[in-house]
Amino acid sequence: MTQNVRVLGISGSLRQKSYNTAALHAAIALAPKSMSVEIASIRDIPLYDQDVYDKEHPAAATRFREQCKAADAILFVTPEYNYSVPGALKNAIDWASRKPDVPLHGKPCAIMGATTGVLGTARCQYHLRQILVSMDMRAVNQPEVMIGSAKTKFDDELTLIDKTTGELIQKLMQALHDLTLKLR
Ligand SMILES: Cc1cc2nc3c(=O)[nH]c(=O)nc-3n(C[C@H](O)[C@H](O)[C@H](O)COP(=O)(O)O)c2cc1C
Repeated sequence: MTQNVRVLGISGSLRQKSYNTAALHAAIALAPKSMSVEIASIRDIPLYDQDVYDKEHPAAATRFREQCKAADAILFVTPEYNYSVPGALKNAIDWASRKPDVPLHGKPCAIMGATTGVLGTARCQYHLRQILVSMDMRAVNQPEVMIGSAKTKFDDELTLIDKTTGELIQKLMQALHDLTLKLR
C-alpha cells in the first residue's frame, strides 16, 4: 500500500518573481504521486524575540510552527545571501526550533536552491545543513540540487525549462519520500 507523505515546502525568498519559489513549484510538479506539498509563508513572521516567545506567539509564527509540526518532512528551497542562509529563513527556523515541542525536531528534510550566480547556493546549503543538525533533522544527502545561472534554467514565466535540473529535482523528491518512510 502506498503511504502518503506530507511535505512542508519553504521558500527562502520573499521576492514575487523568485527563482526559488519557482523551483519549489517545479518540485511539487515533479514529486511522487503519494507525496503532497503544502507551501509555508514565512513573510509575516516577526523577528524572533525570546520575550515575545515567552508571552504569546504572533499568529504567523504559530501558524508556521503548526505547519512544521503537522508535516512528515520539510523541503527547503532557498537562495544564498552573502554566502549563507537568508535572514528570513533563518528567523523562521529559529521560531520552529524552540521548546517545549520543537516542531522541526528530527524531521526528515531536503534542501535545494537557485541562484543567478554560478555556484548554485552551495555555500548556503552547507550552512543550512549545519543549522539543521541542531534540531537533529535528517537531511537527504544525494542528489545535491544546486541551480546555478537560474536565468538560463527558467523561462520568463518562471517555468523550469532545464531538463537536467528537472531530473535532479525529481530524484531529490523521491529520495525525500524514501527517507521519510524509512524513518517513519
Ligand atoms: C542580499 C543578497 C545577497 C546575495 N548574495 C548572494 C550570494 O552570496 N551568492 C549568490 O550566488 N547569489 C547571491 N545573491 C543573488 C541571488 O542569488 C539572486 O538575487 C537570486 O535571484 C535570489 O533568489 P530568488 O530569485 O529566489 O529571490 C544575493 C542577493 C541578495 C539580494
